[in-house]
Amino acid sequence: MARHGLGYTQTDVKMSAPEFKSSARPAVKLGVLISGTGTNLQAIIDAIERGDLCAEIKVVISNRAGALGLERARRHGIPVFTIEHRRFTSREDFDRALADALTQAGVELVICAGFMRLLSPVMLSAFPDRIMNIHPALLPSFPGINAQKAALEHGVKVAGCTVFFVREGVDDGPIIVQAAVPVMPEDDEQALSDRIRAQEHRIFPIAIRLFQEGRLKIEGHAVRILGLALGEETRALINPLPEVKRG
Ligand code: GRF
Repeated sequence: MARHGLGYTQTDVKMSAPEFKSSARPAVKLGVLISGTGTNLQAIIDAIERGDLCAEIKVVISNRAGALGLERARRHGIPVFTIEHRRFTSREDFDRALADALTQAGVELVICAGFMRLLSPVMLSAFPDRIMNIHPALLPSFPGINAQKAALEHGVKVAGCTVFFVREGVDDGPIIVQAAVPVMPEDDEQALSDRIRAQEHRIFPIAIRLFQEGRLKIEGHAVRILGLALGEETRALINPLPEVKRG
């Protein structure tokens, strides 16, 4: 158990646990879309470099010039592009440029890691059920922007984050993995966002890994995870555990 200074504990996720270990399948080829700091991108890079995720990032694309995440990618020798949305007259034209760049790079799975643009049917049809996004709330609660602020305003006692497949509609695709965090009485938006962000960094690599292992089966609007080993679900989905005070 890892202890935080927040009065709760968290189970330690070991993605290299035996049931998670190595897959006979080839590395999945990723294209990562970003708009900003790219800490989720960094978590994915780190998981790959640790050997926890059998994936190769073929390209990182930002819709904003100078996004910090681009520098993170360069430091790891990953090809980067900036495709600025404001240079295109329509969402569809922008998406066509994105889809072309991703296809040319040989991308199989698109990862929206803090990518602040809604995708049109142009991108969705180029990569059907092959686009993942992460959202800082327990969907379907609090879709859209300022999710952490909305959660605090509603006085929720449990918040979290969600990795899902992108479909039409805002933050409304089949849910792959979620992690929950407690909301503390003294939390402001920053404190809650930081706590959620730490869990985003855990669950995004897990979701990609499940995809690479061929274990995600979409059934309508839901995702079934195939071959879940005993205990694995707990590590992926329920986190952190509330602190149990003894004595
Ligand atoms: C994350 O909070 C994510 O949930 C949201 O945008 C933020 C991106 O952060 N979609 P980063 O750029 O990965 O640091």
